[in-house]
Amino acid sequence: MNFRTIIEPFRIKSVEAVKFTRREEREARLREAGYNVFRLHAEDVLIDLLTDSGTGAMSAAQWGALMQGDESYAGSRSFYRFQDVVRDLTGFRHIIPTHQGRAAERILFHTILHAGQVVPNNNHFDTTRANIEVEDAEALDLVIPEGRVPSAIHPFKGNVDLEALERLLAERGDRVPLVMVTVTNNSGGGQPVSLENVRGVRALCDRFRKPLFLDACRFAENAYFVKVREPGQGHRAPKAIAQEMFGLADGCTMSAKKDGLANIGGFLAMNDDTWAEACRNLLILTEGFPTYGGLAGYDLEAIARGLEEVVEEPYLRYRIRSTAYLGEKLLAAGVPIIQPPGGHAIYLDARALLPHVPPLQYPGIALANALYVEAGVRGVEIGTVMFGLQPDGTEVPGAMDLVRLAIPRRVYTQSHVDYVAEAVIAVAGMREQLRGYRIVQAPRVLRHFTAHFEPLP
Ligand code: F0G
Repeated sequence: MNFRTIIEPFRIKSVEAVKFTRREEREARLREAGYNVFRLHAEDVLIDLLTDSGTGAMSAAQWGALMQGDESYAGSRSFYRFQDVVRDLTGFRHIIPTHQGRAAERILFHTILHAGQVVPNNNHFDTTRANIEVEDAEALDLVIPEGRVPSAIHPFKGNVDLEALERLLAERGDRVPLVMVTVTNNSGGGQPVSLENVRGVRALCDRFRKPLFLDACRFAENAYFVKVREPGQGHRAPKAIAQEMFGLADGCTMSAKKDGLANIGGFLAMNDDTWAEACRNLLILTEGFPTYGGLAGYDLEAIARGLEEVVEEPYLRYRIRSTAYLGEKLLAAGVPIIQPPGGHAIYLDARALLPHVPPLQYPGIALANALYVEAGVRGVEIGTVMFGLQPDGTEVPGAMDLVRLAIPRRVYTQSHVDYVAEAVIAVAGMREQLRGYRIVQAPRVLRHFTAHFEPLP
């Protein structure tokens, strides 16, 4: 069949009602939430684009697999099924289940990091950065310069700046215990990393004898971008591309709440026997026995099946296309976004849209809050609130001030997305009325989750 329309590669057998609210109700709910959309009751949100993490719809095959879960404490059959699927995909020797991605990060960094060390990445995600900084180490972002400019077009805007990495390894290499690459680069706009770039990182790691770990949360979306954008890759299956990329690394951290197509779960995987043994010992202390790692047997089943479905080409074609569809509608209306559209989300450039709101008055919060009040759509600030507070307590503007609209997997239809586009365009049209915020109270670490704000007059 040669038709051009890319359709959802599924039909829907179970639905969940969404609640419509009035504008005054949303204003009141947001005020009660301290003007922080993280603190809203999800029920009061019409279309929830806060995150694509754990919010996807599982397939009938995954729900069926739940019933096959073996809940044995040790040596569960579901663990071996999970291990087989992860090993087939990644090739790593040690597969350590965790309850989600940040647990894998904490176990890895607490095991191998020392105070004063440096971990480079294209862009660390917030939990990755926090898990490094809590060990008194430095989380260094080395994405290519194009990756820091929202309007700059580049097919692989998540690539690592290889010259900057080489300089770091030459000058401070003794303090670098491992190199990380995040695929796709979430904090930088869901932008992919090319195979060629990972090969370049691998070559530097070989030269300076450093292990390379992937933050692999969205490895399948990244593999699809490689397929359609990287010369010479178009004929390959996404799974084969993903396998090659994992093959260039020595280990990975993974949140199965993204490209595991599951509601919970994650894993840490690696080849090094000594590190793996130390990580398993910490896992037992905080997560559970190494054959369940804080998950139920049925979660391991759902993840195993999800990892098989996520590399299917019809799914990935629809996934990447449906995100781009939202981006194209916004661009056509002149709304500034990170270009080109990423894999799992559209990132509105709040700093460009609201030039009258300085970064330290949080343009991302102003825009995210207006979207909720006007349309019941929940996005998330990725900017100065998330990244501006320094370990020494000072505050500086984040590299960008964005509002991320993350698309849950297989959840919303094209008309939901049409509604979101209409809402964003309407809010952009009233941008001059939007005002900044100040923080009333906030914790020192990961403050964006729980901070209370107050609108500025
Ligand atoms: N790394 C990346 C690149 C992520 O995007 C996330 C989570 C994690 C690690 C941590 O995984 O949530 O399972 O502990 N990102 C979600 C998001 C929360 O909304 O982007 P987790």
